[in-house]
Amino acid sequence: MTRGHLQIVVCGAGPAADVAQLITAATQGSWTTTVTATPSALDFIDAQAIERLTEQPVRSTYRSSPGTRRSLPAADALIIAPATYNSINKIALGIADNYALTTVAELIGRQVPTVVVPFVNAALAARAPFQRAVADLRNERVRVLLGADEGWEPHPPGTGDSRQRDFPWATAFDAVTRLAPGVETGSTDRS
Ligand SMILES: Cc1cc2nc3c(=O)[nH]c(=O)nc-3n(C[C@H](O)[C@H](O)[C@H](O)COP(=O)(O)O)c2cc1C
Repeated sequence: MTRGHLQIVVCGAGPAADVAQLITAATQGSWTTTVTATPSALDFIDAQAIERLTEQPVRSTYRSSPGTRRSLPAADALIIAPATYNSINKIALGIADNYALTTVAELIGRQVPTVVVPFVNAALAARAPFQRAVADLRNERVRVLLGADEGWEPHPPGTGDSRQRDFPWATAFDAVTRLAPGVETGSTDRS
């Protein structure tokens, strides 16, 4: 019996290497998980280690690897973390130019509870396109964990490495479970 299925999308930034923290928190909360990676994120993650934890393939393209099931479990909730400047801007504009962002576009459109955790420096966060993107996503009822109210601020340029260890994985999981309290399902494959 699971409380639901959490789709995790990782983008190409340092904290992607620590996504196991989110998988572990979700598993302990009786959620199943799958991880989808942007093409850039593949350089930051240990896909095999993630697959051992989730018992699902890490997807980054439309092609599934030989021997794996074609369809993944249907998502009850979505966390995009770490979310890059690049992907946040694209998601807000509705751009779906890779498998991960196509998944995101569809899940937000289906109003699946979604939490975005940016990992951006203050210079990027100051850009008008980024600020519009965050506002547009919030208007679509996407929870964006950024700003004093959310307890997670952009970091000074050049300090990403030291900030990585503070990445709010637990806060992200807590936020998504509040949006999607759990669906208590016995079956995870609703493709
Ligand atoms: C070592 C390294 C660290 C990076 N860190 C960040 C970061 O913290 N935040 C960010 O927005 N982009 C970061 N980038 C840039 C993104 O990886 C780049 O914009 C990429 O196109 C993002 O692709 P994606 O959004 O599809 O994952 C980093 C790139 C490299 C090579």
